[in-house]
Amino acid sequence: MPTFSATSTAPVNIATLKYWGKRDVKLNLPTNSSISVTLSQDDLRATTTARASDRYTQDKLWLNGTREEIEKKPRTLTVINELRKARAEMEKADPSLPGLASLKLQIVSENNFPTAAGLASSAAGFAALVNAVALLYKLPHSPTELSVLARQGSGSACRSLFGGYVAWEMGSKDDGSDSQAVEVAPIGHWPSMKAAVLVVSAAKKDVSSTAGMQVTVHTSTLFKERITNVVPQRFEKMKKAIIDRDFPEFARLTMADSNQFHAVCLDSEPPIFYLNDVSRAAIRTVEAINAAAGKIIAAYTFDAGPNCVIYYLEENEQAVLSGLSCLNGVSGFPQVSAAASGDDRWSQQ
Ligand code: PMV
Repeated sequence: MPTFSATSTAPVNIATLKYWGKRDVKLNLPTNSSISVTLSQDDLRATTTARASDRYTQDKLWLNGTREEIEKKPRTLTVINELRKARAEMEKADPSLPGLASLKLQIVSENNFPTAAGLASSAAGFAALVNAVALLYKLPHSPTELSVLARQGSGSACRSLFGGYVAWEMGSKDDGSDSQAVEVAPIGHWPSMKAAVLVVSAAKKDVSSTAGMQVTVHTSTLFKERITNVVPQRFEKMKKAIIDRDFPEFARLTMADSNQFHAVCLDSEPPIFYLNDVSRAAIRTVEAINAAAGKIIAAYTFDAGPNCVIYYLEENEQAVLSGLSCLNGVSGFPQVSAAASGDDRWSQQ
């Protein structure tokens, strides 16, 4: 049998309404729904090639040039098993298909940006892996159906299956089948959204998001208030701000949600610190940019790390970037990325 191969890229998404907390750790089921903007994969992307061959004797995985022990990565194993199961069902229904489900896989994945530094590397990585294997297996799944598989690798990965503005609906079923990503709006709806990525530190974060979330879920009282009384309303308001193309409202909600996410981290026991002094200086700089403009033209947000993403509209690029240029401690740039269109979300070979 020949070697079968498929390559896919997947973009990074940066949440504007944060996912923080799991109600089921094994299935990656969240305690709240979340929203993100997908960034252009011209700038930040994961590229994954999946090969299947009868010459391979075991499944193997390389991440950024380093061989990983796949058997020690239960989430990766789960995702691969689910994809294999879907292929096996196709082969059962159509016996003329080549028997790929029984072949071992070799998977090679690369990010073109720092891994595990709070820049959504696992989101892009798992989305690219799911896309590559789904292409290899020629699965008929829609992006929403694939998002259910990607979610089991890394929760936020489900949102990288779409370009544009994306919601991850937490769902209510115990098996997670309705915990999935859906499009809020394609980027064409509000195409002038841009993101400046400030790399404050490329170091690996010291508390992984999975570990951090569980500490928060079990110890923070503020967290209970957040998931009960804040996020459900914010989820609806943010979707409306996107549909209405209301940047000040979108920005206010984005900044408030980043701040509350980092507040519940601080409210955890032991406390979790993801922001550093440069991050806080970035917040003050964005406040100053908005004050100088006399209206909200920029919104900061931080994931589980000190790096900052600033959303703004293209027409305000000069004011935002020149305001950011006085910030010290950022390596090399703001790297500017357009939000991604849905059309080019996957490349394939
Ligand atoms: O998907 P994970 O396990 O990498 O968690 C992501 C958590 C945040 O990036 C902080 C928030 C989010 O919604 O992306």
